[in-house]
Amino acid sequence: MKFFVDTADVAAIAELNDLGMVDGVTTNPSIILKSGRNILEVTKEICSIVSGPVSAEVVATKADEMIAEGRKLAEIAPNITVKVPLTWDGLRACKVLSGEGRMVNVTLCFSANQALIAAKAGATFISPFVGRLDDINMDGMELISDIRQIYDNYGFDTQILAASIRTVNHITQCALVGADVITAPPSVIKALANHPLTDAGLAQFEKDWAKTGQKIL
Ligand code: E4P
Repeated sequence: MKFFVDTADVAAIAELNDLGMVDGVTTNPSIILKSGRNILEVTKEICSIVSGPVSAEVVATKADEMIAEGRKLAEIAPNITVKVPLTWDGLRACKVLSGEGRMVNVTLCFSANQALIAAKAGATFISPFVGRLDDINMDGMELISDIRQIYDNYGFDTQILAASIRTVNHITQCALVGADVITAPPSVIKALANHPLTDAGLAQFEKDWAKTGQKIL
């Protein structure tokens, strides 16, 4: 399973990238706002760090304008993935941009039917939002599982990019049901290493090692 980082925090991306944890990056208008940076500049900087797909989202609502924005964003670097919303205009833009050989991430997916039509429109990635479904008392992971089955039934090669990942348990469940990619904030990816028994075990080893009076270096 690939790990994308859901942030425009360049320092956090670089830190995780050094550990080999970054297969790509996703951004959206809210993430750009949080970064306080210009979209073109910060996206270019991210692309200079990460060689995998970097999603940059269009903000127009009409297909023609989305296509023009997508082409401009794609000029930033060869690994730009143009992110479009799951509307009919977004799907039109997806069809045109993917037909030009560009990677397209169709975002704001909340149903299996939406995922089905995104695949038919040539999406490289579909982004179902797990956490936002859980927020309204629906089952985000059930959606990932349904999309997996539908894509496998018909051999669609659109990759399932599980988004709106809020917890480490979401990541475990995504791995179990076969999401191709998860995108999560740096804090959630870093929390994957945490376990209280690891902390307790390490504390005990440190205590006992001190009693030996030995040194390795
Ligand atoms: C995905 O591409 C989105 O940027 C993101 O995962 C949304 O997450 P949120 O629901 O926590 O804002």
